[in-house]
Amino acid sequence: MLYKSEVSLHTLNRLHDTDSKVDKRCCTNWKFTCLDINGRSGSQVNYEEISSDFDKRSSQGSKASRGAMRAGNTMPATVILGAQWGDEGKGKLVDRLAEQATWVARFQGGNNAGHTVVLGEQVLKFHLLPSGITRKECHLVLGDGMVIDPWVLDKELTDWKESTGEDPRGDRLYVSERAHIILPYHRFMDSLDTKIGTTGRGIGPTYADKINRVGLRFGDVAEVMGDDAWTKATVDRMNASLEAAGSNERVSTDGLVSDLAWIHENYAMCIGNTGLMLDNALKLGEHVILEGAQGCLLDIDQGTFPYVTSSITSRGNATHGAGIHPGHVEDVIGITKAYITRVGHGAMPTELDDEAGEHMGTVGHEFGTTTGRKRRCGWFDAVVMRHAQRINGFTGLALTKLDVLGGLEELNICVAYELDGKEITELPSTASALARCKPVYITMPGFPEMALSEWLALAVHANESGKGFSVLPAAAQQYVAKLEALVGVPCTSIGVGPDRDATIDCV
Ligand code: IMP
Repeated sequence: MLYKSEVSLHTLNRLHDTDSKVDKRCCTNWKFTCLDINGRSGSQVNYEEISSDFDKRSSQGSKASRGAMRAGNTMPATVILGAQWGDEGKGKLVDRLAEQATWVARFQGGNNAGHTVVLGEQVLKFHLLPSGITRKECHLVLGDGMVIDPWVLDKELTDWKESTGEDPRGDRLYVSERAHIILPYHRFMDSLDTKIGTTGRGIGPTYADKINRVGLRFGDVAEVMGDDAWTKATVDRMNASLEAAGSNERVSTDGLVSDLAWIHENYAMCIGNTGLMLDNALKLGEHVILEGAQGCLLDIDQGTFPYVTSSITSRGNATHGAGIHPGHVEDVIGITKAYITRVGHGAMPTELDDEAGEHMGTVGHEFGTTTGRKRRCGWFDAVVMRHAQRINGFTGLALTKLDVLGGLEELNICVAYELDGKEITELPSTASALARCKPVYITMPGFPEMALSEWLALAVHANESGKGFSVLPAAAQQYVAKLEALVGVPCTSIGVGPDRDATIDCV
């Protein structure tokens, strides 16, 4: 369930600073210090009322109210995650759900992600900005667990400003002081990858520096600026790594100094304690969406290692990477295509090298938003999905791109693998075992091809009439019901085209 709050004050704890847009004001009846952004009036929110409501509920001591007090939240957050190898269509879903949210926060990854949102004639592509940016009321967080390329973010902000006139920095876009910065050095290192098929955006090397505890965070920039010893040690370390890795690229002290100054100048007004902001927002009754990037099978721990990304893409990291506790979460939506795709290296048991695969790639426009690479396409894989379900405990599935399968005579669904002569129903942990897995299929009847305008009309009719899922062609209904049964999770929505409204709500 989604909620829209009337509360319009957003709070921010910040390290600095006198020249920013932040108006420091303490709200002392909370147990922590809140700062009011942009001088939005504290009178819009009655903190005393909220506090006394908490006190009242606590002293009433009813089971429900004490439960709520223990959980420490008044409004649940919704987590949206990719359930496959990424590119499942998170952007479109978040964009849709953001209509009823006050905050959209990313919690991991960086500009290796790519979201396409179609608004009528306009096609918007984002890599860092959360999809909720298209909803003007929505506040946006680039959270603690992210790695952020400040130059890519700058380009997205410039494009956004050119098309809308809005500069959201510090007004409704906030960057976590704990998020790590992707510097040119990280991109140079990532460009050497030949093994994984990375996006080349510097993601892995930046996370590696974080784990090695030498990375640079947004909140550290003001502190290391002017620290010559730090700059020299950092440049020496980076150049030694580049040389050892066989790169001809080098970084310079002057370059790093000017990069730091530029980052400070461009982002000081929006760097803050975003976890605290989200926690406060939930306490103030505002709805928060935690927007995942990549997908479960690209998770560094739970994915198809080593052909994975460098972050934890799963539910367990959604709140952690956003800086709030897991008790806030109520709904966890797993996004899955009605088939499956993958970019980069690594096995994909249901990968197709035939007409059906060609159909999915062509009709589904399966080219990466970030790198433009052709995506590998295959049949829906219930083994993958059951794995994703075990890790994430989805409360609902958002099925996307069902329309793409229209026109295929028969639809295969992988229900198990054959590995070395034995049938298995769980994902093996090693890359070589996965590469030896052969899919075991069940076959369902296909449903007719329809034009995008027909699918859109069907979705609009489904939602307006309240008929939902039942407007789909019979074979499409059977297919969806089979997927739900195999994964053990109901579909909450079904995407039938790229348009914002081409989504059927399964009420
Ligand atoms: P990296 O995240 O750039 O390090 O790439 C590691 C692997 O994850 C490569 O196979 C990439 O193709 C894949 N990957 C990273 N981000 C995405 C995404 O948003 N969608 C699909 N695949 C991705």
